[in-house]
Amino acid sequence: MTREDNTKNEKTQSDKKTNILSGLIKKKENSADVFKDGSVSVKNANLWYGDFQALKDVSLEIPDRKVTAFIGPSGCGKSTLLKCLNRMNDLIEGCRIEGRFEVGGTDIYKSADVNLLRKNVGMVFQKPNLFPMSIYDNICYGPRTHGIRKKSELDEIVERSLKEAAMWDEAKNRLSKSALGMSGGQQQRLCIARALAVRPKVLLLDEPTSALDPISTGKIEELTSELKKELTVIIVTHNMQQATRIADKTAFFLLGELIEYSDTEELFINPEDPRTERYITGKFG
Ligand SMILES: Nc1ncnc2c1ncn2[C@@H]1O[C@H](COP(=O)(O)OP(=O)(O)O)[C@@H](O)[C@H]1O
Ligand SMILES: [Mg+2]
Repeated sequence: MTREDNTKNEKTQSDKKTNILSGLIKKKENSADVFKDGSVSVKNANLWYGDFQALKDVSLEIPDRKVTAFIGPSGCGKSTLLKCLNRMNDLIEGCRIEGRFEVGGTDIYKSADVNLLRKNVGMVFQKPNLFPMSIYDNICYGPRTHGIRKKSELDEIVERSLKEAAMWDEAKNRLSKSALGMSGGQQQRLCIARALAVRPKVLLLDEPTSALDPISTGKIEELTSELKKELTVIIVTHNMQQATRIADKTAFFLLGELIEYSDTEELFINPEDPRTERYITGKFG
């Protein structure tokens, strides 16, 4: 074999390698499709923190591309259930979970790829938790961890995500500035933009507006109606008006139990359980 042949051979070998690698990467990306949509199914969920049972035989079916609200007094397990849906309780020592949790028809505790799950099920918390870096880098954080490096592609993702989070006009001229320089309401919408950057099928919002002024709250409420065209939104809220304004379905929890779950209007106008009625009329909680 001549030296030229050798180089050629090496080149084919390396091409082969690249092909195999890109095949693997594609396969990994396509496996996002294991979640066929953003529907969520919970069957007989029980959860304990040590000896304390925080969820008691909870079952509910959450429809794809609707807004579902979780309401109920503090400590009744709303955040706990939300965290089960992207396996955030996995990290808590002494936490034991029973039952079946599905996203888009896939059992999320059987499929071991937690990163893939979290790419599909994003979460935003009560307090904005942006990284101390630029707006641009905050939004790119997720896509970069999933291997996207090309500047043009990242630029597109940043613009799309900020537009989807109704933040583009406010952020476009300061993309390289620290995200922490934004107001609380803007930071919360940036958190939503960051979550949207990896194109989740489900977005979990845990009291996202409880620290915000009414105008910022209104913006996030409007946003949820836009977002549900593309994905499923599950929102924990203590604000009943908020639930009636934005949620298609509402679930009422008490002491770890799901007491009532129905169309929002039905639940607020015609509650079936006297405990729901007492809660929504402000008699306890
Ligand atoms: N990491 C934890 N360890 C022990 N107990 C916890 C933990 N997280 C939550 N709990 C308890 O579980 C119950 C439900 O909490 P949580 O889901 O946060 O309620 P909610 O979001 O409805 O206010 C509460 O009694 C709370 O104290
Ligand atoms: Mg909570």
